[in-house]
Amino acid sequence: MKTILTGIRSNSVLTLGNYLGALVPMVRLANKHSDEMNVNIFVPDLHSIIADIDGNLQENIVRTIKYYLAAGLKINKNVHIYRQSYVPAHSELCWILNCVATMGETSRMTQYKEKSEGRESVNVGIFDYPILMAADILLYSAEYVPIGEDQFQHIELARNLAMRFNHRFDAEIFTIPLKTTEQIKFMGVSDGIRIRDLLNPEKKMSKSTKAENSKIMLNDAPELAAKKIMSATTDSYGKVKFDMWAQPGISNLLQIEALINDIPLQDVISTWAGETRYGELKKKVAESVKKELTEFQERLNKISNEEVYELFDFGEEYANKIANKKLLEVQKAFKLR
Ligand code: TRP
Repeated sequence: MKTILTGIRSNSVLTLGNYLGALVPMVRLANKHSDEMNVNIFVPDLHSIIADIDGNLQENIVRTIKYYLAAGLKINKNVHIYRQSYVPAHSELCWILNCVATMGETSRMTQYKEKSEGRESVNVGIFDYPILMAADILLYSAEYVPIGEDQFQHIELARNLAMRFNHRFDAEIFTIPLKTTEQIKFMGVSDGIRIRDLLNPEKKMSKSTKAENSKIMLNDAPELAAKKIMSATTDSYGKVKFDMWAQPGISNLLQIEALINDIPLQDVISTWAGETRYGELKKKVAESVKKELTEFQERLNKISNEEVYELFDFGEEYANKIANKKLLEVQKAFKLR
């Protein structure tokens, strides 16, 4: 059986951008495939500690899984939910892959460059982040790794490490994850989804942006979220058109509308093509966001911590079994065993 694998860091409450760009598409994919594929959804808690954590990490971890459930994730025996640090093979394989990866390729990672730029002191974890991520993927022979556009480079690195390793030992030890172009096809989106900052739509929506009106947090009051949409930056063209370069604000609203209502982006684009009253589009999107957040929060509040811990029990037993088996093959290749 093939494996779909994904994870999302739990350093804070997530934004609507994380929800629409990562969580919801992942949940739809998982529900579509969980009858015939393994679906591994894990919390990369070891990745979390490279940076500051808002609030309590334990609470954040449990909340992240509740997000998936509230977003509609259906659970069956092929769905495995686990915490990275509860599967020690991840750190072990990370070390081994450290000895396969080069400083050059790891230094080229955009995320590392961005996160370390201008800082006096940068922890090694930030540098090593994509190697641990490669271990997360390769331990489970996952071919499908649905993630946001900002992580594509890391997938390419994981592929390169896997191929180099296999070549070095002349054995098919690792399954090579699909190329990012294939990942995009599998996800069924035309491109990486990237929800924009509401005030500065040329940037990605990020929880670390100071301006409250730039971002919608998943725990925002739905009414407030609607207001933020109404005050989103648009442009002076005066005609609705999907054009991320020239009209990023309007394009972002169209994207949000499509994702929330699970309508193909093309359909939303044609519905609104040529509309000259931006206010009408904003009103519609504000309504969609308000409704979605209201329903999402209601579902979220009904999920108990116990429910999540039960999923961890099941998922971590599975994950350790699969991961340890792969790790042993790798250790044997290096004659560590
Ligand atoms: N880097 C991902 C993020 O920032 C999280 C992550 C860690 C991940 N390991 C992964 C995603 C493996 C997919 C597969 O959201």
